[in-house]
Amino acid sequence: MPYAEGKVKRSDMNLRPHIPRLRSKLLAWYDSSGRTLPWRIRPEDRDAGEQANPYAVWLSEIMLQQTTVPHATPYWEAFLTKWPTVRELADAAQDDVLAAWAGLGYYARARNLHKCAQLIRDQYSGEFPQTEQALLKLPGIGPYTAATMAAICFNEATNIVDGNVERVIARLHAEDAPLPKSKKLLAGLAAPIADPDRPGDYGQALMDLGATICTPRGPDCPNCVWSFACQAFKDGNPEDYPVKIKKNRPIRYGAVFALMHDGRVLLRKRPDDGLLGGMLELPGTDWGDAYPETPLMFAPMKRNWEKCDAPVKHVFTHFELWLEVFRAEGDGGAGLWVPFDDMTDYPIPSLTKKAILQALKN
Ligand code: ADE
Repeated sequence: MPYAEGKVKRSDMNLRPHIPRLRSKLLAWYDSSGRTLPWRIRPEDRDAGEQANPYAVWLSEIMLQQTTVPHATPYWEAFLTKWPTVRELADAAQDDVLAAWAGLGYYARARNLHKCAQLIRDQYSGEFPQTEQALLKLPGIGPYTAATMAAICFNEATNIVDGNVERVIARLHAEDAPLPKSKKLLAGLAAPIADPDRPGDYGQALMDLGATICTPRGPDCPNCVWSFACQAFKDGNPEDYPVKIKKNRPIRYGAVFALMHDGRVLLRKRPDDGLLGGMLELPGTDWGDAYPETPLMFAPMKRNWEKCDAPVKHVFTHFELWLEVFRAEGDGGAGLWVPFDDMTDYPIPSLTKKAILQALKN
């Protein structure tokens, strides 16, 4: 990590004498109080001879980039049951991978996951490469995942920085440069503290600290092993960090049509590229700045369409989507008739499920 002394911030210099204690206190806290997670090899497991499984760690880290531990856990378990090795995942049909991913969001990640598994099978003899640099070259593996896998699985002294770590480090330094621009700065402040002897445990400990003690709201500072050195704690305003530039999410509007018959609903496949690529959706209008004035003109066929009481709302990263839902009973129409009882066998995203439920309610 390039760390020219002339460029080091004053807060960083003030913290340097505390580094040995920051490391030892955090690792001692992790040894006694870190979380037990199904994909995690805890220090006592390692002492008993267990080793991290790179495939299992990779799956968990990709899933955890977009959701919480409780939401990700059943998905992780289902993936490992269905596809116990990276080769088996590589051999799966893409639609089956998307179906197993349905509900996790960010479906481009699922397609990249599958692509990455195929590359590992075809070009790496089924074994993940063992350095941060080599991992970074794989599809869907960015700086966070490469650093985390290299540290956890291969004991490389990397600098693991996720949203939890950014928050802890911003508070430790009372660093008020706003995210996302300050990402590099915060990573630079995190780097000299990272423990090179136990990099995987240290990174996971810091993420655990952020997830359970140094939380976005109501941090538990009296029980934090880093409060002795934390500038925001001393200043009494930890919740003010990290500063974030608020982005306004625009709202887009549209309408969808749920044709239902005999316990089934008519769906269509979205194009493979782009948002929700390859997933199933209800036929509908384009999404624009206002609800379509004459939505029935866009209905896939003439039916006795009935508008549901309330629209369905869904939050994507860059916009919010509000969809009016129209329902009708009837047969025919081009697409895929999916039985309500078998929806988990199909790649159906949460947005589509919400709209189908709305149609069923009315
Ligand atoms: N969040 C994402 N990955 C994590 C890990 N390995 N440990 C703790 N929190 C995490």
